[in-house]
Amino acid sequence: MNELIDRLERQGGLSEQEYVALIHGRNEESARILRQRAAAVRQMHYGNDVYLRGLIEFTNYCKNDCYYCGIRCSNRKVERYRLTEEQILDCCQVGYGLGYRTFVLQGGEDSQYTPERIENLVRQIKTRWSDCAVTLSVGEQPEEVYRCWFEAGANRYLLRHETADSEHYRQLHPERQSLENRMECLRNLKKIGYQTGCGFMVGAPGQGAAQLAKDLMLIHELQPEMVGIGPFIPQKDTPLGQEPAGTLELTLYLLSIIRLMLPQVLLPATTALGTIHPQGRELGLLAGANVCMPNLSPVEVRQKYALYDNKICTGEEAAECVQCLRRRIESVGFQVAATRGDHVNKRKEEGKLYV
Ligand code: 5AD
Ligand code: FES
Repeated sequence: MNELIDRLERQGGLSEQEYVALIHGRNEESARILRQRAAAVRQMHYGNDVYLRGLIEFTNYCKNDCYYCGIRCSNRKVERYRLTEEQILDCCQVGYGLGYRTFVLQGGEDSQYTPERIENLVRQIKTRWSDCAVTLSVGEQPEEVYRCWFEAGANRYLLRHETADSEHYRQLHPERQSLENRMECLRNLKKIGYQTGCGFMVGAPGQGAAQLAKDLMLIHELQPEMVGIGPFIPQKDTPLGQEPAGTLELTLYLLSIIRLMLPQVLLPATTALGTIHPQGRELGLLAGANVCMPNLSPVEVRQKYALYDNKICTGEEAAECVQCLRRRIESVGFQVAATRGDHVNKRKEEGKLYV
């Protein structure tokens, strides 16, 4: 195991079989070594800085039907909502005052939020808060649409690939959603120039070391600027609602592996990680993560964006979330960075736009 970890760090990647061995054969010692190495690498590139992203969950309408997701179109129990442009801009204003310099607009694939509406929204945010980055996370779109939003000023895009194994993809999604299309979207986003994020759920039903090894191979190939991983958590009104949740232990292990593969990657300690364990996000930072994404959505709608059960932070006002998170970040020896937190590859290009 030690030799595998050494080589992972030196070469930034392993073969698929070696990833299987690293995951399958994991034990407390390999977890500790990975964590220590990942922490050292993160420290070298980012010091003690943790970047905050203000997450605005602006619509829970979605035309897709992912079997794991609480806002899937077939879920009749979820109360649907859609924030207006004005409400979203109000969230940004509150967030700016609280020190956020990145806004993440996340939503389901909602046909009422047309590409033009999102384009206008991006323009307005970038005009009013020109020192901020805008991240979009609104699913699969045609290349022209991604291009148009990029030209309007969007900087980053999050689109988890969910699983790199096409059979496994079919276990998690209906026939009409395909891994092939997802991957084409990710390649287009990279090509257009977005700081691009892929990722997957840890412990998703049907996932084993073989699937995870494929996820890691895909991440290595795509070289994303961001990677979002968190445990799968069942949502009771979905087809996978009776399946067991992913574990803290395996999620932390994978965070460390990803940090060693991509030393400069922007890697969030996710809300899902904070949901399965009270100190999940702090432990995530200690395992190599360097981003947190507190919720900026209006409190009235938070419970309705329930991708999974028992999601944390649904009752807190934005200001409370920031303070709570700041305390948590500092409790494990890190500090909140006051900058946009672009990936190093993009700082040269985008750095001119702000100080
Ligand atoms: N548990 C954990 N994560 C989930 N997501 C969706 N449903 C769940 C769930 N039940 C994740 C998906 C998606 C991201 C926005 O949230 O990976 O890409
Ligand atoms: Fe919306 Fe999966 S249910 S993207």
